[in-house]
Amino acid sequence: MGSCKEKREEPAKCVWVNGPIIVGAGPSGLAASACLSEHGVPSVILERSNCIASLWQHKTYDRLKLHLPKQFCALPLLGFPENFPKYPTKDQFISYMESYASHFSIHPRFNQAVQSAEFDSTCGFWRVRTQDLEYISRWFIVATGENAEPVIPEIVGMERFRGHVVHTSAYKSGSDFANQKVLVVGCGNSGMEVSLDLCRHNAVPHMVVRNTVHVLPREMFGCSTFGIVTALLKWLPLSLVDKFLLLVSNLTVGNTDQLGLHRPKTGPIELKNVTGKTPVLDVGALSQIKSGKIKVVEGVKEITRNGARFMDGQEKEFDSIILATGYRSNVPSWLKGCDFFTRDGMPKTPFPDGWKGENGLYTVGFSRRGLLGTASDAVKIANDIADQWRAMRDCRTYCNSHFILLKINCRESE
Ligand SMILES: Cc1cc2nc3c(=O)[nH]c(=O)nc-3n(C[C@H](O)[C@H](O)[C@H](O)COP(=O)(O)OP(=O)(O)OC[C@H]3O[C@@H](n4cnc5c(N)ncnc54)[C@H](O)[C@@H]3O)c2cc1C
Ligand SMILES: NC(=O)c1ccc[n+]([C@@H]2O[C@H](COP(=O)([O-])OP(=O)(O)OC[C@H]3O[C@@H](n4cnc5c(N)ncnc54)[C@H](OP(=O)(O)O)[C@@H]3O)[C@@H](O)[C@H]2O)c1
Repeated sequence: MGSCKEKREEPAKCVWVNGPIIVGAGPSGLAASACLSEHGVPSVILERSNCIASLWQHKTYDRLKLHLPKQFCALPLLGFPENFPKYPTKDQFISYMESYASHFSIHPRFNQAVQSAEFDSTCGFWRVRTQDLEYISRWFIVATGENAEPVIPEIVGMERFRGHVVHTSAYKSGSDFANQKVLVVGCGNSGMEVSLDLCRHNAVPHMVVRNTVHVLPREMFGCSTFGIVTALLKWLPLSLVDKFLLLVSNLTVGNTDQLGLHRPKTGPIELKNVTGKTPVLDVGALSQIKSGKIKVVEGVKEITRNGARFMDGQEKEFDSIILATGYRSNVPSWLKGCDFFTRDGMPKTPFPDGWKGENGLYTVGFSRRGLLGTASDAVKIANDIADQWRAMRDCRTYCNSHFILLKINCRESE
């Protein structure tokens, strides 16, 4: 644990932040900042990228649309424009984020990658370092996301492959793969949707399904499946809601076992709650699997020079490989001296209590509940900090912090 009195190495310059420091200018960081500003609490957002919502702007494919209706993806205090469709496109979502930031006058500090953050128990403040500066505050909000880094699995022989290998975070459109035979590793929402996109551009996707997977229709009886689940969970136990979901799914999308997509023994909602594994919401991939345009293949044993060898011994040639292998949090790589997070970078305390740690630490967007979870975390964090802010406003602690500022030789953030 660091100390105010320690002689520290670079960076020499430090900045006092008169309110919380938020790391990440994605939807979660923006929501936290907006909710704080509603209470009159200023904040500073540090963002490694050069824009807000960088996951959406830089790391998602062109055909992406929200899988959940817009009312379940809205951030607090300002909803989606009325004229947006039920399932907004990626560009519409980005434009909503931009209007949100501008409405609440949020101006993140871009190109500030947080390299370390640590609570300094001697002076009672968080010290947050980027490549340029050290930022100091009483409160620290982690909003770097569950999907901060792509997961690139080590698959035997990958270095031998002569074709193109890309993770879905760098995939834009099937037009780059027209007429190619493509191995898509992974069958989550990304794997399914990229395979569908490849079909639409006359490529031949082979999707690797190494495990069980729940595929649900995006809508049931003309309503979103997510909306139905949310409503039913208010009245019925989870096990019954899972049974209902599986019954209706079997009636609408059919028995997915026959397509090589075996369902887990645990129901979709229980599995999501226990393991965080998201069910696939089908937006057209299943019918392409049924028609044979998307081919389902078993787990990969090894990658060869020209393709892949599968667990059943079969070998196939491919022009390209797309890794739809998911994402992970990056918190463990920079948050120091704090045991609030697991080794996977998720809060140890599960939803709904994972938003608050000790010593002024908060997390937003780590509830495995998408943007709905973000909204709920942001409101709670802002209420909690605003109570402390009001209590501190006129009292000695504020003066003390300025006194410490002098001691640790900081300048104040504008
Ligand atoms: C393809 C795809 C589609 C999705 N679709 C949906 C959907 O329809 N509905 C839904 O609810 N969820 C969806 N999600 C989940 C999605 O992650 C969240 O909706 C949303 O982006 C989470 O917001 P966030 O701000 O928590 O994280 P992010 O959007 O990941 O934002 C985190 C920000 O932190 C920054 N950052 C990370 N590390 C550092 C660091 N060390 N220093 C400074 N900055 C840092 C990143 O650059 C990023 O800008 C989707 C995810 C993916 C990958
Ligand atoms: N439109 C949308 O709303 C939309 C679209 C895309 C993604 N998303 C969201 O974004 C998040 C990430 O989704 P995602 O699909 O990118 O990731 P994901 O849900 O984590 O799925 C990753 C997939 O890769 C497989 N995998 C990982 N390593 C593998 C390996 N070595 N060999 C074979 N398979 C491997 C996993 O299989 P196992 O199950 O066996 O581990 C799983 O099928 C999710 O929350 C998702 O809902 C939303």
